[in-house]
Formats: sequence, structure tokens, C-alpha cells
Amino acid sequence: MTADIRPVAESEFAEWLRTVQTAFLESPVVTDGDLAQRLKYTDLGRTVGAFDPDGGRCVGTFRTFAQNLSVPGGEVLPSAAVTNVTVLPTHRRRGLLTRMMAAGLAEAKERGDAFATLIAAEYPIYGRYGFGPATSLVEWEIDVPRTGLDPRWSTPGDGGRIDLVDTAEAARVGPELHERLRRTTAGTVSRDERFWNLALGVEDLDLRPYKQQYFVVYRSAEGEVQGMARYRSDGQWTDAKIPLNTVQVGDLLAVTPAAERALWHYLCSIDWVMKVRTGYRAPDDLLPLLLPDPRSARTVTAADQLWLRVLDVVRCLEARTYAAPGELVLEVRDPGGLAGGRYLLDAEARSCVRTDGVPDLLLGVDALGSLYLGDESATRLAALGRVTEVWPGAAALADAMFRTPRRPWCPDIF
Ligand SMILES: CC(C)(COP(=O)(O)OP(=O)(O)OC[C@H]1O[C@@H](n2cnc3c(N)ncnc32)[C@H](O)[C@@H]1OP(=O)(O)O)[C@@H](O)C(=O)NCCC(=O)NCCS
Repeated sequence: MTADIRPVAESEFAEWLRTVQTAFLESPVVTDGDLAQRLKYTDLGRTVGAFDPDGGRCVGTFRTFAQNLSVPGGEVLPSAAVTNVTVLPTHRRRGLLTRMMAAGLAEAKERGDAFATLIAAEYPIYGRYGFGPATSLVEWEIDVPRTGLDPRWSTPGDGGRIDLVDTAEAARVGPELHERLRRTTAGTVSRDERFWNLALGVEDLDLRPYKQQYFVVYRSAEGEVQGMARYRSDGQWTDAKIPLNTVQVGDLLAVTPAAERALWHYLCSIDWVMKVRTGYRAPDDLLPLLLPDPRSARTVTAADQLWLRVLDVVRCLEARTYAAPGELVLEVRDPGGLAGGRYLLDAEARSCVRTDGVPDLLLGVDALGSLYLGDESATRLAALGRVTEVWPGAAALADAMFRTPRRPWCPDIF
């Protein structure tokens, strides 16, 4: 018998959460505190479960929430952020995710969202639904004694200053900085109250024990707040009483290179700290080159991050800016039936219309998702057989148009 896919009632939410936690191999116990916290931030109107007809047990979960995505040029477009995607191991590979996703994407299209977004647990899951990896990330581990930084460093030296601040100040400064960063960084997504409350430790889930964090704020010589970092240390020492602390950075937001430089130098200057784990950064972060010896920063993670599913081709292509003029007819194939068709894009006019004209490039909607923010190259995708050039050079023209000066970056996991 096929499972029933339907919205989740408040009385079923604890079981729904138990399913999420079980499929994520976390504790199946949902505490009252976690239940109340999760319920507070969950729109049950956008939360579905798959219920086994034999006993009515919740065996699959899926929900979306409203998000805004920054696109090249600074505009933000509404997206449906997909999260809490699970199917219990007892019910996997029977098409439950496929059904929940089809319903979720159709709803998002109906609502007028330009995209759907998600962070994929595993690479092979979401391409079939039209998602393409659109931003990537890197994490470095810095070997502090090797950086070549002056071990006596204690101040930015540019007239600016670094201050340790309390949670209330971090809660005031952080969202303001993030809003500024979003205006210049394609790929960033909006952060809601829940994100900040969990990030700053104002609220916590029993599932994830809270450990004290430190917050530092960088102010320029003129007193303007330009950056903030939050971090914690693991308190490790060797048996010989030699400090071996690793600082794990939770978030480092900087809207100027000076702030970026000062905050990284600060983190590498803290006594006892031998290693700094940077957290997920932009793949073209300034960081390694901010250190006298960039090789002291070893790459520990390099992976895809935000996945993008275009739902409204015209709106998406008209919202972003382009690096070069050019006209291209894109034939977008969408097996999901939501965004397919032939579109004429005029980069200079920032216009996109449906057309019957001869196509220049043929591509799947997933490939369009990968190209959209400028992180992927049409030439590379053509070499992989995922984009077809109707005439030689069409992919290179697309690359010239879609290129962005800095790579897009999504610092968040949702
Ligand atoms: C990933 C998950 C939600 C898939 O659910 P599901 O109901 O088994 O998926 P479906 O049966 O609808 O699968 C549809 C297709 O995707 C494929 N697929 C699904 N998950 C896959 C995975 N992890 N790796 C590779 N292929 C996968 C299926 O094989 C199937 O392919 P087919 O159409 O060619 O037969 C489920 O396995 C799960 O909960 N995993 C653990 C938690 C997790 O990773 N969640 C995702 C968080 S982003």
C-alpha cells in the first residue's frame, strides 16, 4: 500500500520530529524543550509527512520555509528553502521523497517563489529533481605557528580595534552586518530569528549541547562596525602541559577586507591556540593570502554547498546582472515540468522572454541552477556533456556573461 502524503497536525509534530532525528541517526528522543523550540519556528502549513497506511506511523518528512536568496548584482529573490528531508530506513527507495518533493516544488511555484534551495546531505540525491550545485565552500585548518604572523600581534594596526562583546551586543551587530554582506554576496540566504537565536546560544536544542562561545567585533578607525566573529576553543593541552588548543570558528562576517584581515589575525593570535579551524568559507576567500605563509592554511574540506532549483526562468534571469553583453537562446529542459522552454536572454537589457528562435545552448534546469550564480562554467558543463553548444563558442559567450568578480558564497547550513 502506498503511504499517504499530507500536512502534519500539531499533535503529530513530535512523531514527525522523531522521524527526522531517527533518519538523521540522531537521538530518537524528542524532549519537551526541543519540541516547543522547533514548533515555534515551523510553519505547519509547509510541513508534510509520509504516513504509513499500515498503522499511520510517520515514515517520511519534508518541509520548506521562506527564504531570500541574493543574486549577482545585489537583488534578492524569494526562494523555498527545503529542509528536514527524511525517509525512514524501513521505507526508503519506494518513491516517498520523489512524491514529497514534487508536491513541495509545485507549491513553491504556485506561491511565486523564483527558486527552491537546499543543502544536500549527499551529492546524488537532488539532481533528479532539477537542483544543481550553485555555490561551493572550503574549510581550512590553520597551523598557527607556521603562519609567519608576528607572535606579539595585539591590535589591527590600521587604527581599527577589536572588542570582545556579550551575546546581546552580538545579537544587535550580527544581523546588521549580515544584511550588509548579503547586498554584495550572491549566494547568501536570509537568516531568520531562529538561526540567530541558535547561532548565538540565546536558545539551544537539547540535541546539540551548547558550549560557551566568544564574540569579537571589529571597528574601523572611524568607529564603524565592519566585522564580527564567533568562536569557541576545545581546551586541549598535551600531557607535558603544552597548550594545544584548536579554535573552531562558528561564523566570521566581514564587510571590508580590513575587518577580514584583522579578525583572522586576531584569531591566530590568541594565546594557547595552535590551530584555527575556519568553518566553511568562500572558495575564493582572501584568507590564505592574508597570512604571511598561506601554506599554513591546509584545506580540510572542499565541497558543494547551496543547491539551486530554478522555478521561474524569466524572473531569475532578469533579476541578476551580467558581466558582458550578449544574447543567447537557452533551451531549458525540465523533466519536472516547471521551468522548461526556450528563452531569449539579452544580458545588456537584462531581459528574458520566451521565444521560438533557434537555440544556442541546450541544458537541463539543474545545469541552469549551477550556472546561475556564476560559480560553474558552461564550457566545463559542455565538456561533461551536461550543456550542448549549438555553435562553437556559445558556452564561452555564456561564461563571459554569467561570470562574477567574486565567487558566490552561502555561509549557512539549513
Ligand atoms: C535521502 C532520502 C530522503 C531518500 O528518500 P527515498 O524515499 O528513499 O527516495 P526515493 O525512493 O524517492 O528515491 C528516488 C530516487 O533517488 C535515488 N536516491 C534517493 N536517495 C539517494 C541517495 N542517498 N543516493 C543515491 N540515490 C538516491 C533512488 O535510488 C531513486 O532512484 P530511481 O528513481 O532511479 O529508482 C532517504 O534515503 C533518507 O532519509 N536518507 C537519510 C537522511 C538524508 O540523507 N536526508 C537528506 C537530507 S538533505
